[in-house]
Amino acid sequence: MKEQIEKIQNLAIEKLSQTQNLKELGDLKVKILGKKGELTILLRGMGSLPKEERPVIGELVNKVRDILEEEFTKKEKELKRKELDERLKTENIDVTEPSKKTKLGSIHPISQIIEEVEDIFLGMGYEIADGPEIEKTFYNFDQLNTPADHPARDVQDTFYINDDIVLRSQTSPVQARVMESKKPPIKIICPGTVYRSDAVDSTHSPVFHQVEGLVVDKNISMTDLKGTLEMFAKKCLGENTKIRFRPHHFPFTEPSAEADVSCFVCGGKGCKVCKKEGWIELLGCGMVHPNVLRNCNIDPEVYSGFAFGFGVERIAMAKFGIEDMRLLYENDVRFLKQF
Ligand code: DAH
Repeated sequence: MKEQIEKIQNLAIEKLSQTQNLKELGDLKVKILGKKGELTILLRGMGSLPKEERPVIGELVNKVRDILEEEFTKKEKELKRKELDERLKTENIDVTEPSKKTKLGSIHPISQIIEEVEDIFLGMGYEIADGPEIEKTFYNFDQLNTPADHPARDVQDTFYINDDIVLRSQTSPVQARVMESKKPPIKIICPGTVYRSDAVDSTHSPVFHQVEGLVVDKNISMTDLKGTLEMFAKKCLGENTKIRFRPHHFPFTEPSAEADVSCFVCGGKGCKVCKKEGWIELLGCGMVHPNVLRNCNIDPEVYSGFAFGFGVERIAMAKFGIEDMRLLYENDVRFLKQF
């Protein structure tokens, strides 16, 4: 047994001196010192030795193992250094080589419009409000005076998650949330994503963006609404922009109107952008319905307010001359970098 052990030791040291790389070294180590390695197997076989010999042989095996382990570690260090030296010799870096240019993106046209609108309204003393995109029907409809049989509540128009929860179909629910949580005076806008069950075409998308506006205070009248929208239109679309109201109906405003702006491309003469109308439909608006105020615990005898809501895509398309809405969502850099 003693000779066997010495033989393993000598052979191992000889092989070790011949190993060229770390892989070979690892294999050799497993072969000798591993769980099924030569030395380990020998140690296991010690049971068959006469009792007196066991401690002597045991000690020898342990000694040899210590020696070999030390040798392996030495060799490993040596090989690692050798490999590193080789790498340093072959992999030289040319620090003078020009780096790859990282391409800078640009702000998406939708975000540009939202940021611009925010700037304009912040300048008029408004705050920016926020609300959930996954919204309770209670806020999306009920609080906004939109009765159970109203067509907007139809599953054909609105994405329902269940009977009580929808993907908000408008930013208007933020009005109700703000009025519930804050006392007048209230002056907010809320930009955000909204969802409708529409098929995709050049002017429709099931996911789009709106900006909501709400002002509630004492003595707020329709003239405040018109003045505010006129100011906004001039700042956003150009100083010469005119605005006109057409009567309309929304459940949450009374009276309600739709506002058009004079075409900022042709100045009202009629062109491709305004479809020869001279006017471009801009938004829905009106005086906050007393029921909505009451639903949110605001006394309509004391307070009044106006609200408006518009689509961001429509403004982006008109302003940037984009003819197909789908381009806004395809994220083709060639398209996006133009703005
Ligand atoms: N929420 C309406 C829509 O999506 C737009 C709207 C109309 C918002 C009138 C308002 C408003 O705040 O007063 O069609």
